[in-house]
Amino acid sequence: MGMLREDIEALEQNGITRIAMTRLGDPDVIPLWFGEGDEVTPGFIREAAKQALDEGYTFYGHMRGRAELREAIKRYLDGLYGIDLDPARLTVPGSSMLAVTMAAQMTLSDGLHGLIVTPHWPNIDRAFRVTGAHFDTVRQRSGAHGWRLELDDVRAALRPETRALFVNSPCNPTGWVMSREAQAALLALAREHGFVIIADEVYHRTVFDAEAAPSFLEIARDDDPLIVVNGFSKAYAMTGWRLGWMVTPSRYAEQMAVLSECFNTSAPSFIQRAGVAALQAGEAEVAALRAQYRRGRECVVAMLGGHPLIDLPYPAGAFYAFPRVRGLRSSLAFVQGVLDEENVGLAPGYTFGPGNDAHFRLCYAHSTARLEEALARVLRYVERHAGAWGD
Ligand SMILES: Cc1ncc(COP(=O)(O)O)c(C=O)c1O
Repeated sequence: MGMLREDIEALEQNGITRIAMTRLGDPDVIPLWFGEGDEVTPGFIREAAKQALDEGYTFYGHMRGRAELREAIKRYLDGLYGIDLDPARLTVPGSSMLAVTMAAQMTLSDGLHGLIVTPHWPNIDRAFRVTGAHFDTVRQRSGAHGWRLELDDVRAALRPETRALFVNSPCNPTGWVMSREAQAALLALAREHGFVIIADEVYHRTVFDAEAAPSFLEIARDDDPLIVVNGFSKAYAMTGWRLGWMVTPSRYAEQMAVLSECFNTSAPSFIQRAGVAALQAGEAEVAALRAQYRRGRECVVAMLGGHPLIDLPYPAGAFYAFPRVRGLRSSLAFVQGVLDEENVGLAPGYTFGPGNDAHFRLCYAHSTARLEEALARVLRYVERHAGAWGD
């Protein structure tokens, strides 16, 4: 018998890491496989962290996060969405990924059932898997105008023991942005059925026709069955800092402190100081990053949209596209081929849930010149191998 729980021993490396590890750091490769751009974190945020270290912010802080950071997050969300969030609802445990893990642990366990709206980031189903609960996926539907979620598909997947549904909008990997109406309908279903919506809104600032994507926080009551996860990685180019937050009903403030203490005892103190700086003075940077991502998206749509060998459901938000290569049967063989022959790093579709083996994901948070070069190489590969996809 192995040393670990069987379900932990059975966990597989996700397809992004699997392919990326083979050529990580190779200067010949244009890496579009990870969910981050090529810009370092803005200087004033880095300075705030350095200053915090020099000022001695090296101690434990409040379990749910420093009061000044929770207050800054409250003000930020209030300003963005026109709400009045109770800071007792906020916890800053560390990264958004940790917040997702905590949300899954808080709602699911052996004998219970979860749902994940898919295509989805593979780490999410790992987080669900380790709860011991059974889970199913509900697939977004795609069409020429992009992706959407049918409420009837969610309804059909519900079971009496369904306790949590994970939904990520703007979506990694599809770029789907859930409309306010769709959010309201899902929330009504959650209230009726009694499952908790785990809403991952980490790409909320990466939309191109508004300051932020619609948030469940705008329509939900404090006591609704809702956990919203968000963070600094994407909006402020802070992926390596591991800083995010979660919003839960106020009545769970004490439980959140207990849980946060045993998961990570809150995010590092000096990094929380940098988070305050980002929220207070980061709007210009958010806008600059968004302008870059907009150029990236335009480039992807111009080069892949309308190509006869590729279907590209319109990527409305986040900084990913999830194209389908016509006739493709193995996304892993495809991205391996693109890497070997054209030195471009893509993520294979299969790792984003069932039914995606003709897809690949690319992150377009890169300079236009790099992106154009990468996409030209991908197209060259597609055209060279079209009609002869092996398994
Ligand atoms: C959908 C989604 N949720 C959460 C995260 C994790 O964010 P963080 O870096 O704050 O852990 C990512 C990162 O790629 C993501 O794509």
